[in-house]
Amino acid sequence: MENVFVLDHPLIQHKLALIRDENTGSKEFRELVEEVAVLMAYEATRNMPLEETEVKTPVGPAKVKVLSGKKMGIIPILRAGLGMVNGMLKLIPAARVGHIGLYRDPDTLLPVEYYCKLPSDVSERELIILDPMLATGGSAAKAVEILKEKGATNIKLMCLIAAPEGIEAVHEKHPDVEIYTASIDEKLNSHGYIVPGLGDAGDRLYGTK
Ligand code: URA
Repeated sequence: MENVFVLDHPLIQHKLALIRDENTGSKEFRELVEEVAVLMAYEATRNMPLEETEVKTPVGPAKVKVLSGKKMGIIPILRAGLGMVNGMLKLIPAARVGHIGLYRDPDTLLPVEYYCKLPSDVSERELIILDPMLATGGSAAKAVEILKEKGATNIKLMCLIAAPEGIEAVHEKHPDVEIYTASIDEKLNSHGYIVPGLGDAGDRLYGTK
């Protein structure tokens, strides 16, 4: 599949297995989601541009490579996306964090924006949207739309688990958006849950139900 990257690093897969387990409680679930976010950030930033510079070591001058100052933005979709923020920030501490809150209109079933606070220079940043579960793709596609309306041109989407339906829905509207996921699961059930998935990511992160 074009523009879809399944991150199959053994540590990511092992931790995802624990995350899926219904016997994993909220504390451990939160810790594991954060750890997987660190590992996924590492994988998704593989192609960040570098530039050559020089530093002086105690022994002498050394030609070194440093990140070429590309500005990053992390955009969690409320509320489950929050669970991945700290992990991402561990590896990309200079990233700005924007928040997008969406709810589903009960009549139209379409996502509606109820909160949006973004860095003012969002159009200049390389953005990574965070949402652990890419289910119908409605929220993710809407978040991309909101960011594009503000001038963003470089957008990635990072989730833990994606349904084929969600990938298709996002790519139908936004084929330019690269999707990073730890797993592509089988399907959605009639309630919009990913099968086998992990249940409701927000509820499992925050112990609500
Ligand atoms: N959101 C979740 O938290 N879980 C799903 O399976 C689908 C959407």
